[in-house]
Amino acid sequence: MGGLAELTRSLTGLEGPALAHLHRLVASWGPLADLSFADLLLFVPLARDSEQSRGQRVVVVGHVRPTTNQTVYRHDVVGAVFGEGERPLAAQALRSGTIVEGEVDVDAELGQVLAIPVRWDGEVVAVCTRESIPDLGRQPGELERTYQSVFRRFAAMIAEGSFPFAAEDAETEEAPRVGDGAIVLNADGRVAYASPNAVSALHRLGIHVNAEGERLADLGLEEVVVPTAFAIGAPVTEEIERGHEVTVVLRCLPLLEGGRATGALLLLRDISELRRRDRLLISMDATIQEIHHRVKNNLQTISSLLRLQGRRLTSREAKEAIEESVRRIRSIALVHETLSSTGSGDVPFNDIVRPLVRTVEESLVSPDRPVRFRVGGDAGRLPARVATPLAVVLTELLQNAADHAFPPAGPGVEPPSPLDGVSEQPLVTVHLDNDGDRLLVEVADNGVGLPPGFDLAASTGLGLSIVRSLVATQIEGSISMRSPGANGCRGTLIELQVPLTPPQHVVR
Ligand SMILES: Nc1ncnc2c1ncn2[C@@H]1O[C@H](COP(=O)(O)OP(=O)(O)O)[C@@H](O)[C@H]1O
Ligand SMILES: [Mg+2]
Repeated sequence: MGGLAELTRSLTGLEGPALAHLHRLVASWGPLADLSFADLLLFVPLARDSEQSRGQRVVVVGHVRPTTNQTVYRHDVVGAVFGEGERPLAAQALRSGTIVEGEVDVDAELGQVLAIPVRWDGEVVAVCTRESIPDLGRQPGELERTYQSVFRRFAAMIAEGSFPFAAEDAETEEAPRVGDGAIVLNADGRVAYASPNAVSALHRLGIHVNAEGERLADLGLEEVVVPTAFAIGAPVTEEIERGHEVTVVLRCLPLLEGGRATGALLLLRDISELRRRDRLLISMDATIQEIHHRVKNNLQTISSLLRLQGRRLTSREAKEAIEESVRRIRSIALVHETLSSTGSGDVPFNDIVRPLVRTVEESLVSPDRPVRFRVGGDAGRLPARVATPLAVVLTELLQNAADHAFPPAGPGVEPPSPLDGVSEQPLVTVHLDNDGDRLLVEVADNGVGLPPGFDLAASTGLGLSIVRSLVATQIEGSISMRSPGANGCRGTLIELQVPLTPPQHVVR
């Protein structure tokens, strides 16, 4: 079943601003359903009706249930087509352009129906019906009678073309509903009626006197919604705070008659709890950022301590081992540094790759045989869970390319010259590709290639052991290393697949 736009376009031929008017109606009619304690349905006449002789058929393009009462329609009615005989009041309102009321069959019960012509630009383009099964044994109280009479005023506005309001004033999730608290204001802005929940909301704002007959300003509520809504004839929303503890949102819907505000419906909602949670989330974000910052600082301290220790060593092998450890720690610190500045749980990974490359470049490239590094593609944003091990893996791979792919020419060492005899410049490229489900990382060099008989799974070096273990246990991806030298190409190609959808067994 399609939505309002699809249904109206395919079945009724209604489009453009008239269709937009209906969209605004269904976007803003929630409070009206609540005020009337009834379901609201929106009917649009079918275009080029082949059964025109038997009367005008209509299709339901919108439906809203009240939050203040039971619904008449437990099932979905949007998309249902009715003949004129089944919906006589809707057909009558369409034809006469006036509000008609009566008792008719509603979903196999005798229901009370009010059919309101929906006018746009002087034309009746649809009919909005209010449908309920009256509870005959019950006398409506003051609240219900007041709400019903306010609903009648909105109904008149729909028929007149002044509701929905023309202003783009979309209702938000936090928009107050009638049940949150409703105040009816007179033409001079004085309180005619305040619902019990509205009185509670006023209490939260420190107003404890009887509000009836008073203007909110006289009660000490320095709000601008009411005067503004009266002046512009459109709804206005405002949040009022009392210290850090209390936040109440006010939404004023003017009641118009012939373009003039003759009163207003003011909805109030205590959103203190929502705002408190917002503030908590913001401070949690700040805390997480702070933690990443401190982790980075601690890692830098550790790597400085190691470096100091390395300087005191004399064995070349020991010095190199310390240097490698320093590099690994730095690559992890880099991820935390980036996380501490993004303020979210993920990082744009390219921002990490570039400094990683720079570190390897600075520590290794000798002036007589400079190795160039190139980064291409986009890794997108990666969660910290993936970014940290991946940074370490990439450091090892780049380090290996720099360490092993381009051995210096010397006595007993075959100079690395390409098979075509033209001396190529040593180049290491990193390519990143993120398709949303997986990240592909390619590291390629044009060096001497892997040693004969090389087998990644059997390789015993510390660097590749770390790579294998991180790829298998933390990244949960796969890696392959090969030298396509047999085809006349040189160098080494490493392909790393990183799944980005969280593994199934993770309980979240
Ligand atoms: N890009 C590469 N080009 C040539 N050989 C490589 C490359 N990457 C790795 N290797 C080979 O794999 C071996 C293991 O690497 P690794 O586990 O990092 O240990 P290490 O770097 O300490 O030797 C290297 O000694 C080298 O022979
Ligand atoms: Mg290595």
